[in-house]
Amino acid sequence: MQSWIPFVPESASTESANVDALYFYLSGVTVFFTLLISGVIIFFVIRYRRRTPHEIPRPIAGSHMLETLWSVIPFVISMSFFVWGAGLYFRQSRTPKNALEVYVVGKQWMWKIQHATGQREINELHVPVGRKIKLIMTTEDVIHDFFVPAFRVKTDVVPGRYTVLWFEATTPGKYHLFCAEYCGMNHSSMIGSIVVMEPTAFNDWLNGNVNQQSAAASGQQLYQTLGCASCHGANGEGGRGPALLGVFNSNVQLSSGTVQANESYIRESILTPNAKLVNGFGPIMPTFQGVVNEEQVVQLMTYIKSLSSQPNAAPAAAPSQGTTKPPVQELPR
Ligand code: CUA
Repeated sequence: MQSWIPFVPESASTESANVDALYFYLSGVTVFFTLLISGVIIFFVIRYRRRTPHEIPRPIAGSHMLETLWSVIPFVISMSFFVWGAGLYFRQSRTPKNALEVYVVGKQWMWKIQHATGQREINELHVPVGRKIKLIMTTEDVIHDFFVPAFRVKTDVVPGRYTVLWFEATTPGKYHLFCAEYCGMNHSSMIGSIVVMEPTAFNDWLNGNVNQQSAAASGQQLYQTLGCASCHGANGEGGRGPALLGVFNSNVQLSSGTVQANESYIRESILTPNAKLVNGFGPIMPTFQGVVNEEQVVQLMTYIKSLSSQPNAAPAAAPSQGTTKPPVQELPR
């Protein structure tokens, strides 16, 4: 549905109406004060104009009342911008726990998408309506920016780290995806679409694309061929590297301090293994920088995550992932 106000993109996510409301409030306040101040200027220019060539105005002593008012009122107005904006920002930055995870790798000049169930897409992302989607994003080269105007979401995609963006689409349809960070010659053609589908249609779409193995299975294959298993048995076999079972999202004891084993930590441990040494292990792991690309890192990551969500492996993993039942049953959590 197109908005009745020109240039406003259609609104198709749970957050877009809130972003619009703040935006219209900001615009309203701006328009109000622009009119008020220009009106007062014109009024004063006429009312207090010089009437004779040598007229001297009456001296003004000042007014505490006025000064207080013109300090307090703008303060209250600016704080309303801050509080409202910060509230929206926090809601957008806190990713919901029970979201469907999708990996995004930016590359000059395309968007590569990897679903946990193995489906891959380029410049297209299929998602079900009414489900929180969490995008875990990185890039193989320069900074890109994942921007979906209809959802009012936009997040930089930065080399060397993961950034996260979430949304919940409310209306089935096809929406523009843009790269919103100048990234070289074909930046303007780094575009795509988000296809929002009814849950049943989405399941059909998933089932129609099952010829690829799941991301975790590809990761397990890599794990074998790269020889990870010789040091990092899932259950600690090998012994030269820390066990991987249940490691995801756990608190890892380092030689100094602890770290939460999130996506960035796992990625760093694959590409720069000596950056954070697990307590009791030496700096013996070679770097896999240049050996695996970002998509393969993502596959290894989903494999390591799948080790965590096995029952009775990690109490912190699967059961705590929110209480609402996902509408799409086929997807592994
Ligand atoms: Cu990628 Cu601009």
